[in-house]
Amino acid sequence: MTRAPMTRAPMTRPRLAALVALVAVAVAGAIVGLALYTRMPGLGPADRADPGGRFDLIDTAGRPVTDRDLVGKPTAIFFGFTFCPEVCPTELAELTTVLKAMGPDAGRLNVVFVSVDPERDTPAQLRLYLSNFDPHIRGLTGTPAQVQRIARAYKVYYQKVPTEGGYTVDHSTSLYLMDRHGRFVDRVAYGAEPQALEKALRTLLAR
Ligand code: NI
Repeated sequence: MTRAPMTRAPMTRPRLAALVALVAVAVAGAIVGLALYTRMPGLGPADRADPGGRFDLIDTAGRPVTDRDLVGKPTAIFFGFTFCPEVCPTELAELTTVLKAMGPDAGRLNVVFVSVDPERDTPAQLRLYLSNFDPHIRGLTGTPAQVQRIARAYKVYYQKVPTEGGYTVDHSTSLYLMDRHGRFVDRVAYGAEPQALEKALRTLLAR
């Protein structure tokens, strides 16, 4: 067994100096570029952040509820409205099935339904509507500005659409899973099978 002879000549001093200078310029450029990038509106970390954040709303009894009230338990939160013809009742019915299947573990989660139709979804209207579903599901509403703030924080889309009789509200349908500190973990798409939803909630609890 023979070793291949070393063919490359050792680097000369001027070439080494040039290489060091090149690396230094590249590193400096990367640092400046990163600094500019993170300060640029629309590109910085704040705009690419995960769903979640501060909010001030009220519950179905009219009591104030903020993001701080959810800390300590993992949270499943989604957005909709009580006049929703299909998506919200379907999702709430599925959550009801899953929460019942989870038994006492359901109480270890915050499950939150936030109205994106605050004009019609008063605390009393939300309370009446949610009485059809699992009692673990908490309804939150607020002023239009408060609802807009939480929707922005969670990157939720909603839009009033006029109809013959009045209006409906188009809205995002994902269920957001947050850890016990309020940090985003995952989202479950509308239409997931109950077994998949239960698994996602149990995984969230096990974190
Ligand atoms: Ni809906």
